[in-house]
Amino acid sequence: MSLSVKHLLGIKELNKTDIETIFRTADNFKQVLQRPIKKVPALRDTTIANIFFENSTRTRISFELAEKRLSADTINFAASGSSVSKGETLIDTVKNILSMKVDMVVMRHAASGAPWFLSKHIDASIINAGDGVNEHPTQALLDAFSMRERLGDLKGKRVAIIGDIMHSRVALSNIFCLNKLGAEVMVAGPPTLIPKHIESLGVKQTYDINKALQWCDVANVLRIQLERQNKPLFSTLREYALYYGINKTMLDAIQKEILVMHPGPINRGVELSSDAADSSQSIILDQVENGVAIRMAVIYLLSGKRETME
Ligand code: CP
Repeated sequence: MSLSVKHLLGIKELNKTDIETIFRTADNFKQVLQRPIKKVPALRDTTIANIFFENSTRTRISFELAEKRLSADTINFAASGSSVSKGETLIDTVKNILSMKVDMVVMRHAASGAPWFLSKHIDASIINAGDGVNEHPTQALLDAFSMRERLGDLKGKRVAIIGDIMHSRVALSNIFCLNKLGAEVMVAGPPTLIPKHIESLGVKQTYDINKALQWCDVANVLRIQLERQNKPLFSTLREYALYYGINKTMLDAIQKEILVMHPGPINRGVELSSDAADSSQSIILDQVENGVAIRMAVIYLLSGKRETME
């Protein structure tokens, strides 16, 4: 078992077989995570650097836990408090860390394309933990894995991605991943938050949230990313919540029980009300749980190790 790529820079570069291999490996690791001893020795000779130039809660902790469950050694680097503030470049920072015999880099950066740029300058495998508005591949993998767990094969399943599509790396990675798995995708949100020509990516679009909810089997609701909006793209958060937010009354009004997802962090009461986020239809915490198994699978497969996963 191996992947067709040396790095995980984006879902765009993966093929369907890669995604299915990651899912099958994650199925095995999910079983490991149910055991009293939730650990395998597979990567005991591997050192991984988690390099985060941008804030994170879920992704950073999930990668670190995945690495520990694989018995890898880990070091954690956050840009704040480092020599980046003294003017050190990205390449110098990472080359210095790698000279301490680090085998793999997990990286989050505010600049789109930063992991791709770095991959041209270092030998170690790089896993993109989110780059600007470009991609967040492990989020899309754990999202699709969580859908597959509930719905089976995703071919023909309908997924609505709702909210701030324009500034979302999760949206782009989800579109690539779901397209490759044969699911149908619709994006929904205010016209100012949906990129022009998005249909060229093979998705439907609507500005009517209720229409998207009626159409879909899964609603993946995205955070309003105010930190990436240089100019106001809607009048107030209150108005956004009124016209584009999802609540339990809206979910109850449709004729079927759809799944509700969100990558986190949630702006409660804006894109998603608490009664929807915490409802029995929500699989938001399953997504977080599955993130560890998915990241174990990605790290294991990229490491090229052939030791037992048991
Ligand atoms: N979903 C996600 O990327 O969350 P964090 O920003 O907390 O890592």
